[in-house]
Order: sequence, then C-alpha cells, then structure tokens
Amino acid sequence: MADADIDPNVVNVPADVVARAPGRVNLIGEHTDYNDGFVLPMALPFDTRLALTRRDDRVVDLESVGFAAATFSLDDDPREVPSWTRYIAGMARLLADEGVPIPGFSARITTTIPVGASLSSSAALEVATGFALSSVCGLEPDPVHIAKLGQRVENEIIGIQSGIMDQLISAIATKGAVTRIDCRSLETSPAYLPGEARVVIMDTMTRRELADSEYDLRRQACERAAAAMGVPALRDATPKMVAGLPEGVDKQRAIHVVTENDRVAAAVDALAAEDLVELGSLMDSSHESLSTDYEVSSAALDHMASIARAHDACFGARMTGGGFAGSAVALIRASETERFVRHVKDAWSGEYDVTPDVWAVDPSAGASIIDG
Ligand code: GLA
Repeated sequence: MADADIDPNVVNVPADVVARAPGRVNLIGEHTDYNDGFVLPMALPFDTRLALTRRDDRVVDLESVGFAAATFSLDDDPREVPSWTRYIAGMARLLADEGVPIPGFSARITTTIPVGASLSSSAALEVATGFALSSVCGLEPDPVHIAKLGQRVENEIIGIQSGIMDQLISAIATKGAVTRIDCRSLETSPAYLPGEARVVIMDTMTRRELADSEYDLRRQACERAAAAMGVPALRDATPKMVAGLPEGVDKQRAIHVVTENDRVAAAVDALAAEDLVELGSLMDSSHESLSTDYEVSSAALDHMASIARAHDACFGARMTGGGFAGSAVALIRASETERFVRHVKDAWSGEYDVTPDVWAVDPSAGASIIDG
C-alpha cells in the first residue's frame, strides 16, 4: 500500500496526540522468541497511526478505515468489545491496571500495514495505542515496557500465546538497521545490510484464521520438549540433548528451534562479513526447517519462496512470521529489484488468479509520537 491509501480525513483531524508504530518483517529466527531464543527482524515503512483526543467521560469512541466504528466504556471487559478494538481496549486496561489515569478518548486510526499478511498489524496497533495513551497522560512512552504490555494484550486479552518479537521491534527499531534480539534478556543489537542487498516482501494474498490454535500447539510442543530435557526453555538445549529425545513430533519441533537459533547467530556473522550468499542460504534452510520440522508453512508460502529463488538476483527466500498464510521474504541484489519484482508478480499470477503485492523495503524507525 502506498501512503496515498491513507484516508486524510481520518488522521488529519485535530487531536491531542498522534502516535505511529510500524509493522515488521523478520529476516530469520522464526518461532524462537517464545523459546527465549534469537530473532533478526526489522521495522517496515508501513505503519499504523492513531490520532487520539481525550474525553471527559469513560467512553472510548473509535473510527478506522476498513473497520466498523465502535463505541464502548473503559469499564467494559476488553475481551468482549468488537474484535478489532480489543487491542486498543486491552492496552488501555493494562495501563490503567498499572495506575496510569487513562481517560475516555476518541481515536481515529489509519494503517498502511496489510492485515493478515504476517507483517504484525496487530502489534503495531497495540504499540501505537501504548505510545498515544502514555503521551496523553503526560508520560514519556517507555518502548520496551509498551512492547511487553502489547505481548500481554495478545496473551491475556486476545488469547494467543505469542512471543515478544513483533511488539518489541515495532517499539524499538532503528532506521536503517535490522535488529538482533535476545528474547530472554531483551538485549538488542543493530546489524546492517550491505548496500547491494535489498529485502523484498511477497504477500501470497492467502489468509488463515485457524493459525492461532496451531500457533499455541507449537508453543506447547516446545514447552514439553524443554521439560523433557530438564531445561527452562529450548534456548538452553543443545543439539545433543535434542538428539536424545524420543522420536516424535515434539522432537521435530525442538530440532527446528535449536537449529534456527544457530542460524540467527550465523546470519549475524554473515551480515558482519557482508556475505549475502551465506545469509541467503541460511534463509533457505530456515524455510525448509519451518516447512518440514515445524510444519507451519503452506503450499502457497512454499511456492512463493521457490518462485523467488528461481530468479538469479535472489540470495535466499523464506516464509516470515507465524506462518500458514501471509507473506514470504527474499534477500536480493538491489540493482535487480525491478526485474525481480516483475518476475515474482508474473510467475505468481500465471498460476493463481491473483496478482501478489510485492514490496522492496528498507528498515524503518520504531514507534514515535508524531504530533502532540
Ligand atoms: C508471530 C508471533 C511472534 C513470533 C512469530 C514467529 O508473529 O506474534 O511472537 O512467535 O509469530 O516467529
């Protein structure tokens, strides 16, 4: 989506505060965050903006392009409000529970993040809400804390046991950098793509609702495997320990997580050495592991990754995010961007009835207050 898709009538209204938070794409390190492991995401040039105005009652009044307007009370159960507003109601509730004097408010929301494309539109909504509400209450937004609250909104209000990656990268990203995150200590370190590299996102345009229950099943399998090895999380397991697990699905899941953590470390080394061939090959292996051992890919995602790899400018490609549907990501030679994008669109629309959205993206800055 281009900026032109933002409805100016919605966000350009007088407001006490306007906050923005970006979506993300993860280069490598998938399904490792809730295993206390490592990830390597970057923020996207697509974001969600929330223009918020304080009210003097306890009413929350929301408007967003593409969703039905909704009105509810701060006293309502945030799990019972219309589904797209739960991220906002949940953030308001968790901040209020910490003693932040959340007032009623009106908010107008716009986004350029495609919904359901595995690019973290919901994390961006949570983080933008956290920034806007903190700011309207006179607090300096605390990015890491807001990210943790966003994860709690997913876990406690939405009911998905997701990790911290999406909210954290949306809150803390540095423009121009990909970020290695240690999801146990939450220590972050920037890494840089060489100038000749470009990241391209390819949306299969497939969407899947059931992904949430599968997601929680993966997490449970990981927890069982860690318990069977007597370690706090799969982050602490060695390949030798995993080899000793009884044959079965839990072992397969653990193999993915343990090898994926190693691939993130190798990817950071490859970036430091500006070795794009190595980085691309790690992305290919990550996809294979997610498809075969973790079983979170789909025919569409497998096909998109292989269409990308078939182009001579592609170093590597993989599914990104939770899986089952949504987008794949490719690392390509920057000078060939246009040719590559055309190749993916042509090859895909030749086989499916739809032209995929394909975007070349540069790492963007994390959330901020843009007005107020
Ligand atoms: C979703 C979750 C993240 C992470 C990814 C998979 O995006 O929200 O916490 O687990 O899936 O890496």
